[in-house]
Amino acid sequence: MILNVSLLDIIRPVLDHVADETLKQVLYESFIESSESVTKIEQCFSNLPAKRWPEEVLSGFFNSWKASHLKMLAIYGLSCRLQRLALASDGRRREQLFIAAARNGETSYEDLGLDAGGKTHAELYDRFAAAFVSGSAWRLEQYCLPDARGFRQWIYRNMVVDDIGVGLLTNIFSEIYNHAEYSLALAAFSELVDRHYDFSADQKSQALGYISVHVDGDTEVDHFRVVVEAFERYNEAIGGATDYGRARNLFKEYLARLGCIMEALRLTMKREMQGAQSG
Ligand SMILES: [Fe+2]
Ligand SMILES: [Fe+2]
Repeated sequence: MILNVSLLDIIRPVLDHVADETLKQVLYESFIESSESVTKIEQCFSNLPAKRWPEEVLSGFFNSWKASHLKMLAIYGLSCRLQRLALASDGRRREQLFIAAARNGETSYEDLGLDAGGKTHAELYDRFAAAFVSGSAWRLEQYCLPDARGFRQWIYRNMVVDDIGVGLLTNIFSEIYNHAEYSLALAAFSELVDRHYDFSADQKSQALGYISVHVDGDTEVDHFRVVVEAFERYNEAIGGATDYGRARNLFKEYLARLGCIMEALRLTMKREMQGAQSG
């Protein structure tokens, strides 16, 4: 843990935005029941500031971590599906589905750079990586861990192919998880820069801009709230009830998959440490 803050400490107050007490409980318990995966994620960020890592190690981090974020296409696909359903409906149902699509779409405003002069989060990510690794080799597929690639595909299928309800629950979980994870990542990268890089204050804030924009102003918390609303409106429109068992399994699978990615990244750092000591 960085600064003695855990993922769970960060998500706890955010859960107050959920009116559905059972959903709130399922979200909370998913983190508790996934403590092994949560620890792997926290340990990866704890280890990050240990040394100035070779570019090879950082390239693996930047490519694989990116695959666990930037889900704009999946968000767009999910909103399209809700809109298509709305167009085929009428009355109150039609209105609820259109609003659900719009609320879900709100989770990509910042990624698209709507109020940032068109500066996308993909550009911010490139700038983030460029501050630590030279050239663009980090983007090569060889730097993407198989688990990270699998995660990206899983998210896309959940949001674009699976039931719309599963898509919305995936986006809900992604937003609350990202809020917590970006908070840890910001502390970890900030410490890495302070300990091992010679950046000016301005260079540091430019470099870490991709992470800080998600934490400052509670961007991800707002996304979480609007996608919870989208889910409620969708359920009302179709007369559906939340399948809490499915939600719990989905949230835990999300954390298990992330835990595997972050553990693999941590082990790469560990091997690098051991190699450096014996070399
Ligand atoms: Fe983003
Ligand atoms: Fe978000």
